[in-house]
Amino acid sequence: MTATNPLSGSERALGGVTTDFVADSPDLLARWDEHQAWWDERLQHRVDPFARTTLGPISTECETRTRDGATYAGVNFASQDYLNLASHDAVRAAAKATIDRFGVHSAGSAALMGNTSASVLLESALANFLGYRDCIVFPTGWGAGYGTVKTLVRPTDHIVIDVLAHACLQEGAHNATRNVHTFPHLSNAAVERRLRRLRQADTEAGILVVTESVFSMDSDVPDLAELQAICTKYGATLLVDVAHDLGAIGAAGGGYLERQGMVGSVDLVMGSFSKTFASNGGFVATNQPALRRALLCRCGPLMFTNAISPVQATIVSTALDIIRSSEGAELRERLMRNILYMRKRLEEESFEVMGAPSAIVPVLLGTSRFARLITRFALEGGALVNSVEYPGVSRNSCRWRIQMMANHTIDQIERFIDIAKNARERVERDDVLEPT
Ligand SMILES: Cc1ncc(COP(=O)(O)O)c(C=O)c1O
Repeated sequence: MTATNPLSGSERALGGVTTDFVADSPDLLARWDEHQAWWDERLQHRVDPFARTTLGPISTECETRTRDGATYAGVNFASQDYLNLASHDAVRAAAKATIDRFGVHSAGSAALMGNTSASVLLESALANFLGYRDCIVFPTGWGAGYGTVKTLVRPTDHIVIDVLAHACLQEGAHNATRNVHTFPHLSNAAVERRLRRLRQADTEAGILVVTESVFSMDSDVPDLAELQAICTKYGATLLVDVAHDLGAIGAAGGGYLERQGMVGSVDLVMGSFSKTFASNGGFVATNQPALRRALLCRCGPLMFTNAISPVQATIVSTALDIIRSSEGAELRERLMRNILYMRKRLEEESFEVMGAPSAIVPVLLGTSRFARLITRFALEGGALVNSVEYPGVSRNSCRWRIQMMANHTIDQIERFIDIAKNARERVERDDVLEPT
């Protein structure tokens, strides 16, 4: 049976969310027809800002193409390349030299012969940077998060996880055990209450507490020192995902762990290279040397998949060298100046800016109708920006997830502000939706 939706015509493109349009059909392939039709309708009305293609190097100005071949050029706040290392000369030169030395492929799992001297070097450099005895590199950050949670936790153990933790952590948790306890966002008090109850009932079970140093849709930050102390008190292990701030925030690039004096002091740290380190890939860092073998023997996303390529490993190592240098410190200062300027200007123009200063500047837009229209008008006005809607965030708390880079100029930020204001005025004035 086809899913029914009360909206019709263009209204349909402005309402609903992706999960509303999947039919209850026993035919596993046919059940997606209605869903495809809805997305095509959104595209036709230019309110599908997703799955675009970038037509050149990532930079503060970019050109992008939508599924129907329309191209848009503009100031770019939609890419995650916080320190602009993806186009850095030293990173590109190192990548080219690595291709000459190793070719382009790791050609095997890290559990077999897929590690290269480039990836081994990266692991020790990262362990040193993060203040841990060991660091294990994964081909994706997603796999590092999912796989670490899934490998550590048995079905009889417990996971206590922030309700807004990233999908890789949530999916890992639900696949590891049925004992998943979500806690209200950032609430250390709720973690403590839960741990006390769990420990009263069971002294033997393992407990993993999971959070992020900067939340990717809200840009807010937990009190990590307090959370680690609570975990230690109740014999729980803390895992912190540092994907969005490692390298980009903090005088030395240690992210909010550094800002809170916690570098090397939480039980486990995992992260991704895809935001600041110019490559696919991820890692988990630990003081427990036995974890490496455990992951190599038990963790699907490390064991049953091809290892990070030597080119990617060298890119990340070179990015890390820059991050640790005075140039890295200067890039972070520029990034932070841009972040603070963007946040201030948006607030001055009565946009609702969320969270703490990080390379992600979330702007609350509200309903999907408003978010889809303002994003369309912004794109047409020359601003590339990502809109997030359900299931990335809860229904009707759609937002722009503005992603800042060190190389953005004040002029580009001002241009974005003008475009955003015009787009908002257009929605408030016209709220029209005409098919192309
Ligand atoms: C908080 C967080 N963790 C993990 C990931 C996954 O990282 P990757 O892109 O390397 O798979 C992401 C990226 O979306 C993220 O935002």
